[in-house]
Amino acid sequence: MSVSLGLPRLRSAGPAPSGAPTGAGLMDRHGRRATDLRLSVIDKCNLRCTYCMPAGGLPWLPAAQLMTPAEITRIVTVGVHRLGVTELRLTGGEPLVRPDLEDIVAAVRTTHPELPVSVTTNGIGLTTRAAALAEAGLTRINISLDSLDAATFRALARRDRLADVLAGAEAAAAAALAPVKINAVLMAGVNDHEAPELLSWALDHGFALRFIEQMPLDADHGWTRADMVTADQIRNRLATRFRLVPHPGPREGAPAELWDVHPRTPTAGTGAGDAPLGTVGIIASVTEPFCADCKRTRITAEGRIRSCLFSHEEVELLPLLRAGATDANLAERWRAAMWAKPAAHGMDHTGLDSPDYVQPERSMSAIGG
Ligand code: GTP
Ligand code: 5AD
Ligand code: SF4
Repeated sequence: MSVSLGLPRLRSAGPAPSGAPTGAGLMDRHGRRATDLRLSVIDKCNLRCTYCMPAGGLPWLPAAQLMTPAEITRIVTVGVHRLGVTELRLTGGEPLVRPDLEDIVAAVRTTHPELPVSVTTNGIGLTTRAAALAEAGLTRINISLDSLDAATFRALARRDRLADVLAGAEAAAAAALAPVKINAVLMAGVNDHEAPELLSWALDHGFALRFIEQMPLDADHGWTRADMVTADQIRNRLATRFRLVPHPGPREGAPAELWDVHPRTPTAGTGAGDAPLGTVGIIASVTEPFCADCKRTRITAEGRIRSCLFSHEEVELLPLLRAGATDANLAERWRAAMWAKPAAHGMDHTGLDSPDYVQPERSMSAIGG
């Protein structure tokens, strides 16, 4: 059975509704400035992770509705030259499902030699494409991996592809797409017992692992607080094998809170001051929200501006571009859309019992993570 994708309200895009300041970058009414552009290149995915997609998939966008490499480059250029965008993340669905992902990276790279350009992917296909992506100018990569056990992986992703993901991560490292970051969403009673094992594996391979609290962004609307593993629980799980010490240095709006990882019991002759084995990140979007420091602006796969993961409104950008708008017109619409960014997602420490919280119409796969 396929689940139909509810779409958010489209805000018609006249002039700024609101008095968004001109010439000041992507400001919002809460004093934040977005500099981090997350652009989805496709809504399709070749996995069906239970916390993200329904088993039957979603109605995919027709290819003609997706942005071409030239259109993506144009949007990035407006962001960089007129709106203060300083980094680009390409997301999906699954970005590697696009056969021309290398062309997209190369087109952006040619126009913006200094821009950090990264990808968030499930890793399937990297064995044959990581080197070409690096060659095209990709800066680095984040790979999603929730389990090292083939049966658990299959249960979570509804596909038997663990070996492809593991090989993909090694291919990314071999292509020097460093640091390779690994994202793991933990689900209670499914893969949460694997937390220490995942961390050992990541440390052995030199990957930067981050654990993510599951957010209510699944297409089935099946999120429950009981199934969500909290940041606190993750730290307790890791403490069975490791000692975590807050990583020094500023967080600068990053979703992940970083911890230095030490052995649980210092080996003989080593002390508290010894170098850590590596770091681990914890992305606690639900129990320790970081909305006040958010620097993100999003473009969906069909070219709409989305100011927040949890928005209920989007603003068309691609039709305006295709109708021949100038860069100044595009920048003006983008600025107006971001001015309306919500203050926060509305989930708070007490959970989604909050009457303010309404799950967004789009699932994570249709937003791009
Ligand atoms: P880097 O560390 O710079 O690679 O960025 P990142 O961690 O944001 O990148 P990634 O795409 O790997 O996202 C990891 C997870 O962070 C996602 O799975 C989300 O759970 C969470 N996340 C990403 N963006 C947002 C956001 O804007 N808001 C919230 N609440 N969570 C986000
Ligand atoms: N909650 C938290 N993270 C999620 N992701 C997908 N769906 C969810 C969710 N409901 C993660 C994926 C991937 C990134 C794009 O988003 O695991 O790492
Ligand atoms: Fe930013 Fe919205 Fe994510 Fe909060 S939920 S960090 S405001 S995108």
